Amino acid sequence: MDKKQILLAIESSCDETAAAIVQDDFTVISSVVSSQIALHAKYGGVVPGIASRQHVVAMNGVIKETLEKAKATPEELSAVAVTVGPGLPGSLATGISAAKALCLAWSKPFVAVNHLEGHLFSAELDGAKVEFPAIYLLVSGGHCMIVYAAERGKYKLLGTTRDDSVGEAYDKVARELGFEYPGGPIIDKLSLQGKDSYTLPRPMLEQGYDFSFSGLKSAVRREIDKGNIVKEDIATSFVVASMDVLSTKLRKAVKEYNPHSVIVVGGVSKSPILRSKLTDGSLGKVNVIFPSLKYSTDNAAMIGAAGWWQFKTNGASSDNIPMMPNLSLPLADRKVDDL
Ligand code: KG4
Ligand code: ZN
Repeated sequence: MDKKQILLAIESSCDETAAAIVQDDFTVISSVVSSQIALHAKYGGVVPGIASRQHVVAMNGVIKETLEKAKATPEELSAVAVTVGPGLPGSLATGISAAKALCLAWSKPFVAVNHLEGHLFSAELDGAKVEFPAIYLLVSGGHCMIVYAAERGKYKLLGTTRDDSVGEAYDKVARELGFEYPGGPIIDKLSLQGKDSYTLPRPMLEQGYDFSFSGLKSAVRREIDKGNIVKEDIATSFVVASMDVLSTKLRKAVKEYNPHSVIVVGGVSKSPILRSKLTDGSLGKVNVIFPSLKYSTDNAAMIGAAGWWQFKTNGASSDNIPMMPNLSLPLADRKVDDL
């Protein structure tokens, strides 16, 4: 049997310090995620200074642990891949510096990876097969976008949020209801116990593929300000409204682009409600694919898969590449130097 190649991937764009060893066929050999959630919970959101400090604390331990779990040595690595953006500057800097230092010390190629593209590749880890053309729905704490890909890596951004991402709206509604960060999973669970009894808006429902979630979040706040709310019911009404928006836009994209697959990635794709809503047949005959739950939220395995693809199609990246906090998705006319 021919020996598979492996790379080390590092992710530190927000509040997860993560490292993984990934094979060139996207099989995950080891994946370690050190979450900072407990440090940020009481502040109601990620505090950038605390996040970068904790990445500095955790980084070496996470890298050592993933190498040990994979029983891999530095000599066996084909490259080191790392998220260079988008994300929090101080958080990104820690992972990028670690990756550049390891590449220098071990004489390995450096591979710069776009975090958003990492999420798109999360559905292809561990042997999952994706058929193109595909429509992606990326729903996370930082992003909400619909993307068309005629083939792997050739992206056309159909729509994105004009204000809050859907995960951010979940977290803010949770905070209004008195729950700690990140409240998305709590709201999702609570919504199973309530009734859709509040009338909430579906912003931009019929307007192309762009989203807006801040109006929905404000409408929830206005209901809360009236007093006497039933938390379960407000959670249900909010989740139903959000799901309506996401599924309506996806249906429109499927109709227009007729893809083989619909791929739903990012933290909010963990939601069992979203998973069942999008697999109830309402999208038509298309194959609906989700990453396994452990790869829905931020992790380095997805950076490893995107890194392999980047490395094999474009080669190593320049090691004087800076961090790119506002990086967007590479679009269909990507040039060799683009991510
Ligand atoms: O992908 P991710 O880890 O980070 C970003 O790249 O932003 O996503 C985190 C987001 C948070 O907003 C969190 O509340 C949300 O994903 N989330 C959920 C669920 N699990 C995580 N939202 C709804 N239902 C869930 N079960
Ligand atoms: Zn993410």
